[in-house]
Amino acid sequence: MLFSIFFVLVLVAVIDTVHAESCKTIQYAFPAGTGVNDSRAEAVKAAYVRSWNEYAGYCFGNDSILPVSHGCRDDLDGFGATIIDGMDTAIIMGLTDIVARQLEHAATVDFSRSSSVLVELFDMNIRYIAGLLSAHDLLTSGLFPNPYNQSHMDALITQAATLATNLKPCFETGTGLPATYVNYTTKQPVAGFPLTIGNTTYLNVTNTAQAGTLMLEWYRLSDKTGDSSFRDLAAKAESWLLKPNPPPRYLNLVGTALDTNTGHFLTFDGGWKSGVDSYLEYLVKTHIYNPADDIENTWKSFWITAVESTIEYIALHPYEHPEITFLSELDNDGNIMWSMDDYSCFAGGNLMLGGTYFDRQDIVALGKAAAESCHVTYNTTVTGLGPLTFAWYNASNLAYDAQYNNNFTTRAYAEKNGYFIELAQYNSFPESTESIFYGWRITGDTKWQDYNWGIFQALNTTRTENAPYWEISDVNVPYGGEPYDYLSSYYFAETLKYLYLTFTEPDIVSLDRFSFNTECHPMLIQAGTCAVEEAKRKGEL
Ligand SMILES: *[C@@H]1O[C@H](CO)[C@@H](O)[C@H](O)[C@H]1NC(C)=O
Ligand SMILES: *[C@@H]1O[C@H](CO)[C@@H](O)[C@H](O)[C@H]1NC(C)=O
Ligand SMILES: *[C@@H]1O[C@H](CO)[C@@H](O)[C@H](O)[C@H]1NC(C)=O
Ligand SMILES: *[C@@H]1O[C@H](CO)[C@@H](O)[C@H](O)[C@H]1NC(C)=O
Ligand SMILES: *[C@@H]1O[C@H](CO)[C@@H](O)[C@H](O)[C@H]1NC(C)=O
Ligand SMILES: *[C@@H]1O[C@H](CO)[C@@H](O)[C@H](O)[C@H]1NC(C)=O
Ligand SMILES: *[C@@H]1O[C@H](CO)[C@@H](O)[C@H](O)[C@H]1NC(C)=O
Ligand SMILES: *[C@@H]1O[C@H](CO)[C@@H](O)[C@H](O)[C@H]1NC(C)=O
Ligand SMILES: *[C@@H]1O[C@H](CO)[C@@H](O)[C@H](O)[C@H]1NC(C)=O
Ligand SMILES: *[C@@H]1O[C@H](CO)[C@@H](O)[C@H](O)[C@H]1NC(C)=O
Repeated sequence: MLFSIFFVLVLVAVIDTVHAESCKTIQYAFPAGTGVNDSRAEAVKAAYVRSWNEYAGYCFGNDSILPVSHGCRDDLDGFGATIIDGMDTAIIMGLTDIVARQLEHAATVDFSRSSSVLVELFDMNIRYIAGLLSAHDLLTSGLFPNPYNQSHMDALITQAATLATNLKPCFETGTGLPATYVNYTTKQPVAGFPLTIGNTTYLNVTNTAQAGTLMLEWYRLSDKTGDSSFRDLAAKAESWLLKPNPPPRYLNLVGTALDTNTGHFLTFDGGWKSGVDSYLEYLVKTHIYNPADDIENTWKSFWITAVESTIEYIALHPYEHPEITFLSELDNDGNIMWSMDDYSCFAGGNLMLGGTYFDRQDIVALGKAAAESCHVTYNTTVTGLGPLTFAWYNASNLAYDAQYNNNFTTRAYAEKNGYFIELAQYNSFPESTESIFYGWRITGDTKWQDYNWGIFQALNTTRTENAPYWEISDVNVPYGGEPYDYLSSYYFAETLKYLYLTFTEPDIVSLDRFSFNTECHPMLIQAGTCAVEEAKRKGEL
């Protein structure tokens, strides 16, 4: 008995020492008092207040504002997307009057009554569930003032759990791979668009990002509620992605389309692009959230192998532009396309984050190169903002889409800039800004701050003086061409938050304390970083 107690004590001491030695530090060690630029942070905050006042004045309670016509739209089921998606940004900015109003809405909106019958799992999760969880994490962390109605704090969790429970029918597909929608009336899963390959049409199809962008939120929700059913559903969906069948052309660079009846992959269109993106992203971010959840380091290994395939096959330099590194997307058969979407520009930040955490400097280097190269798609356009999709001429000086081989306009543009524009709109895309934020917080090199300041100034001047902020149809003409009469809720959630966090004190929402969801909603890390272990020792966690 005595012996065994002694043995346990020794063992605990040994484990504790090992743990302390192996704890992780992600952020650059900013010397006290450095890293802040108040005037830039204030300018970003002013942009939030300005657009918020437009939204609240015309559309409070609706999902989105149409900033040109001052119309409103319920395009995210009418739960007030701009409010709940943008709430944690206002918390971080210390906009207490705005936050009080947002919290009241979040605590009282009825998540059982949707404005459309078909409710989409993906956006409900990344914008609403994550927005609610993150507001709760920030306000109850002790790291931010919390002068708000305390009954609203508990409501944030019960509301998130209610919405997630209403979405559970999506998983009733036989395999547990989630269907795209739930019919809110019948509580049945409903598939998205059918997919035709050769002579076969598949009716029950989901995409990799839909199935693989749940873990961070649903694990957090289970941890906060004590109800493990959310975690179990996310883990079951993830299990199909971790053992891709059939395997993709390049190891772990999985395609986008899956059959929810069989669990089989239907396409090989991989890369870091839309449809795959946040699946790869969450392997790292959920591992960081709590390494103990990553049984046998399955997520870590999958991610590292996907990155190694990226380095070997799809991290490419355009013709005569060795200074640029783009991460190509693959077509349905797994062929390299020498093109990218702006969504893939999150990869630079994700590679720097994972490379730092797993101590792989080669991966950090690729992340820096990828982030710099996405920045080039911004600072070379007329507006200073980047296009939705772009492509380049490969080492043989040829484009995947042969029509561009005889196009003098795109050839001349690519010769100068390394890439050419395919789809020119800019819809408040946060991904390049996000990677630049990671570059800043991980390296402490102020060039990253300057990049994001350039992007903020470009955002702030893509319209006529004193007009509200709107999205633009063409990044490469003065003022962005025709205004696009829509303002995405993620402008408030992501674009302005990444910008603000680039200029405010670096220990506000430190990467050592928070893991961000794909919509820039920070969740409190549970273990593994030195900052978290230290907070636990001090009894702050
Ligand atoms: C802060 O931002 C302002 C505006 O861009 C700039 O003029 C100033 O040099 C910056 N200060 C520091 C310390 O980076
Ligand atoms: C805005 O919300 C109100 C209240 O829910 C609703 O009646 C109205 O139809 C919504 N407007 C639009 C354009 O969806
Ligand atoms: C807090 O919020 C609840 C629910 O919205 C409300 O009933 C209560 O009156 C509020 N308390 C205060 C002090 O405002
Ligand atoms: C799609 O799934 C539903 C329910 O999971 C099933 O009833 C139906 O047979 C499936 N359709 C096809 C074409 O596989
Ligand atoms: C939802 O289910 C109801 C009841 O079966 C049905 O009438 C309706 O067409 C379904 N809606 C959609 C969009 O599938
Ligand atoms: C598709 O159907 C056509 C005509 O029935 C047939 O000739 C062709 O081989 C089929 N293709 C595939 C990929 O099965
Ligand atoms: C754009 O930014 C890159 C760094 O990301 C820099 O090397 C390049 O000179 C800049 N180009 C222009 C036109 O400012
Ligand atoms: C460049 O693209 C063309 C057209 O897709 C292809 O035939 C060629 O093999 C590619 N060159 C290299 C070096 O990948
Ligand atoms: C060349 O590409 C540009 C940009 O995509 C396009 O606007 C233009 O129509 C193309 N020109 C020709 C001759 O195909
Ligand atoms: C942003 O735009 C607003 C409205 O045109 C203007 O008042 C403000 O000075 C601009 N801020 C910066 C930093 O350029």
